[in-house]
Amino acid sequence: MAATETRVAPERNGYGLVAYTEGLTKRYAPAVTALAEVSFAVRPGEFVAVLGPSGAGKTTLFRCLTGLTRPDRGTVMVAGRDIWQSPRELRLARRELALIFQQFNLIRRLSALENVLVGRLAHVPAWRVILRSFTRADRQLALGCLDTVGLLDRAGTRADELSGGQQQRVAIARALAQHAKVILADEPVASLDPESAATVLESLRSAVSAGVAVVASLHQVHLARAYADRIVALRDGRIVEDAPAARLDARTIEQIYERTGERSDP
Ligand SMILES: Nc1ncnc2c1ncn2[C@@H]1O[C@H](COP(=O)(O)OP(=O)(O)O)[C@@H](O)[C@H]1O
Ligand SMILES: [Mg+2]
Repeated sequence: MAATETRVAPERNGYGLVAYTEGLTKRYAPAVTALAEVSFAVRPGEFVAVLGPSGAGKTTLFRCLTGLTRPDRGTVMVAGRDIWQSPRELRLARRELALIFQQFNLIRRLSALENVLVGRLAHVPAWRVILRSFTRADRQLALGCLDTVGLLDRAGTRADELSGGQQQRVAIARALAQHAKVILADEPVASLDPESAATVLESLRSAVSAGVAVVASLHQVHLARAYADRIVALRDGRIVEDAPAARLDARTIEQIYERTGERSDP
């Protein structure tokens, strides 16, 4: 009995979870409720897709999880840290998360390998960064991460010479090199063709296999169902669905979108 309790206890209040929100509420003046009482949890090594029409609150949720937006009410915990408890907690929590955006966020003039090494910055002394003197071990690690996303042969290519999908995969490799516990990806495949989108989602799946949790907002329902373990659907700032991807049928998903008339599948 006691053993069971100690096993369950860590998940309470966000401990033992990579991301956790409770009663998250964010309003914008004069009358927009971007998030209303959003509570959800992401377990280690889980792939959660966030679905919802434009304006549903997806980006606001990501901004709250990263501490870029301060909620009016509610708790945000990342890697077991309450991010608004102190600036230190926020700083330490941010080390555990990696961000991927729709617009590729690599340093354009650096190579793929150097961009992945940027993920090591929190772990190496400043002088090494200034001199770009990464250790052999860091280089080996970065190359291994590029291999995981299928881009070992592009290690020396400048970021701005890579395709959009390849750039997203380098960003995923960078998250792996950082040893992030969770990758937060806001519409990571929105500006990609279907084939590139698939390779990016496969790379996110590889990250999940490596033990990293992924929270990704997606527009295409079929992609969420194909790649995610769980689907969280937002509408008007509220969670209207939170279920294993395999359990959501097409009709339920249509209902998430129907009020706005947005199409959920191409
Ligand atoms: N900085 C802001 N100022 C005012 N309103 C905002 C701001 N950011 C988002 N909103 C509003 O909050 C709601 C949710 O937006 P957002 O989180 O961007 O949704 P999504 O990413 O799902 O499209 C929308 O109504 C949007 O107009
Ligand atoms: Mg958005």
